[in-house]
Amino acid sequence: MNIVLLGAPGAGKGTQGKNLSERFKIPQISTGDILRANVRSKTTLGQKAKEYMDRGALVPDNVVVDMVVERIQAEDCINGFILDGFPRNIRQAEALESTLDGMNKKIDAVVGINVDRKELIRRLSGRRVCRKCGANYHVIFSPPLNIGSCDKCNSEIYQRDDDKEETIEARLKVYEEETFPLIEYYSKKHLYRAVDGIGSIDQITKAILDTIEKGRNNS
Ligand code: AP5
Ligand code: MG
Ligand code: ZN
Repeated sequence: MNIVLLGAPGAGKGTQGKNLSERFKIPQISTGDILRANVRSKTTLGQKAKEYMDRGALVPDNVVVDMVVERIQAEDCINGFILDGFPRNIRQAEALESTLDGMNKKIDAVVGINVDRKELIRRLSGRRVCRKCGANYHVIFSPPLNIGSCDKCNSEIYQRDDDKEETIEARLKVYEEETFPLIEYYSKKHLYRAVDGIGSIDQITKAILDTIEKGRNNS
């Protein structure tokens, strides 16, 4: 099962990707997480990516495409993968398609998570993340038991550099211009289905599983 999760910043790709990964026992591949890990460990790739990420722009396609191509060829992807945050524009989608063609694989479903702009801003501006295990918190809606430290592993909780107000605006604009056209792109290939991204996390997971199941029965 090869799944692509589409959605604006804050739509819940990371949250839902984690649930789907547990459910299907296939890895979640978040290009954002891989890039942030590289920034943290100051690799050459990370140093290059940081300036783009900090202003909410897309990291150049060749960098991200190479990263994903390598990742989906890893052994743990043999039964499938969940892409979270990739592809993010038509060029990346085309690169993915030709890579999968070469591996005799295909995308099974592209699921778009719909959340309105006001809610996206509300989610992102209050988000806090555990530096070690990546657990998500929200300062108002799901605060940690002890301010500043993770409930799960006790490590420090921080605000992503790109979750500052000006950068959130820039990321939403990039989404509209670059990523939104992928909805039409994948609709034409009969791969796209949308779910309502407002509701409890489990409700949304169920909606995603239902739509994937429906697509399987129809194909
Ligand atoms: P990336 O890390 O992919 O960030 P993003 O797309 O902006 O998305 P987020 O991770 O912010 O949101 P999400 O949809 O995962 O939502 P989440 O589950 O966390 O990319 C960051 C940067 O890296 C890019 O700007 C770019 O520079 C670079 N990059 C990455 N991929 C690239 C690519 N392919 N090409 C080029 N550059 C690339 O949820 C958000 C919040 O909402 C959390 O606090 C969560 O707890 C909460 N939440 C989730 N679900 C619910 C719910 N149902 N109800 C209430 N709250 C909820
Ligand atoms: Mg994410
Ligand atoms: Zn933690």
